[in-house]
Amino acid sequence: MAEMSAPPHINLVDPALYSHGDPFAQWRWLREHAPVHWQPPAELPGFWSLTRYDDVRAAYRDAETFSSARGILLRPAEHGADPGGGRTLALTDPPRHRRLRALVDEWFAVRSIRALEPEMRDITRGVVDRALERGSVDFVADVAARVPLYVICQMMGVPEPDWEHLYELTSQAFAAGDPLTRRFAHLEILGYFEALQADKAANPADDLVSVLATAEVDGERLSPDDVILNCDNLLVGGTENTRIAAAGGMLTFLEHPDQWQALAGDAGLLPSAVEEVLRWTSTATHIMRTAVRPVEIHGQAVEPGDKVVFWLPSANRDERVFDDPDAFDIRRRPNRHLALGFGEHFCLGSVLARVELRLLYGELLDRSVRVEPDGEAKLLDSIVVNGPERLPVLLKADR
Ligand code: HEM
Repeated sequence: MAEMSAPPHINLVDPALYSHGDPFAQWRWLREHAPVHWQPPAELPGFWSLTRYDDVRAAYRDAETFSSARGILLRPAEHGADPGGGRTLALTDPPRHRRLRALVDEWFAVRSIRALEPEMRDITRGVVDRALERGSVDFVADVAARVPLYVICQMMGVPEPDWEHLYELTSQAFAAGDPLTRRFAHLEILGYFEALQADKAANPADDLVSVLATAEVDGERLSPDDVILNCDNLLVGGTENTRIAAAGGMLTFLEHPDQWQALAGDAGLLPSAVEEVLRWTSTATHIMRTAVRPVEIHGQAVEPGDKVVFWLPSANRDERVFDDPDAFDIRRRPNRHLALGFGEHFCLGSVLARVELRLLYGELLDRSVRVEPDGEAKLLDSIVVNGPERLPVLLKADR
């Protein structure tokens, strides 16, 4: 039997762990010694932690047992139920989930995203041009955040003059700092979609908000509130993780210049580099489910109503699955990471996110843009998403 190393103090729900600590030390210990670990209730309700790849994947596969409708993120009990529960794509269970998803799936399919690629390339070029003009920029706010936001705005049919306004609102809504500012910005986003969905319901066009505003599920139109919440799900889903993954990937390349050089020398490595950026950054830190029937995992009895949390960065560094998991290797193959989830709720924007990352790094490399650190990166203080909040860099191009 393997000797038991001294257990670290396990507390994965301290936001400072992700900005200043080392969650990997805790995850490594849990994978080895307590793969199904009970965290007692404190400010957050009690929950089971799953940290091994195979366990996370098996639970992901079993949407009948592990429900999304009671929320997919840990939240304090006094905040009550998530308002999107049973209504948004991310927070519904089958069979309704399949019907909702069928409304929008086609928009995110490989063929549709391929058709959008020329416009996405123009958007990316424009963002990089503006950043180069300034030279000294925050890679998060000035580069990584803008590309996915403009792209999802385009797909949703947000008029172009409003993109900048939504950029400001999402920046405030996702920013660390004052929770009230965040809350107000989020309410303003919901208010924006209230007006947009009413407009699209009356004058439908060829865009995602029109699809939602005119769609029927089970013979009934979605209520305006359901349309608004799903728009919010698309906007947040479409921007937050991609922004952090793109910036987290850049930070990782700055720390591993040999990997950036290898990529500069062989553009054919871009697809596997993007997969490795996704695995390595694993920006969605935790995803939660609620058990709706009893189930036993590694001898632990999980009861109906119990919360079960999947720690995706841990699964993506599982030494049982990945060779040399703590090495950042853009040539890694196979690379079946879980950064985009798995199964029933597998990321709707997976194709889009991959193309956005490929276009952004491709643009920087094609133009031989030199990216240099220009101050200290700041990591997010959050248990929901992890990665850079600020990444000051100098950008210089020869062409
Ligand atoms: C690097 C970028 C991204 C990462 C790491 C990421 C991660 C994830 C993960 C882990 C899930 C699964 C949630 C669960 O299991 O409950 C998910 C679902 C989802 N993602 Fe992404 N995502 C990214 C980009 C995008 C983009 C560009 C969109 C565009 C709209 C998007 C929209 C969604 C939506 C709507 C869902 C819910 C799907 C469902 O429940 O059926 N995501 N994403």
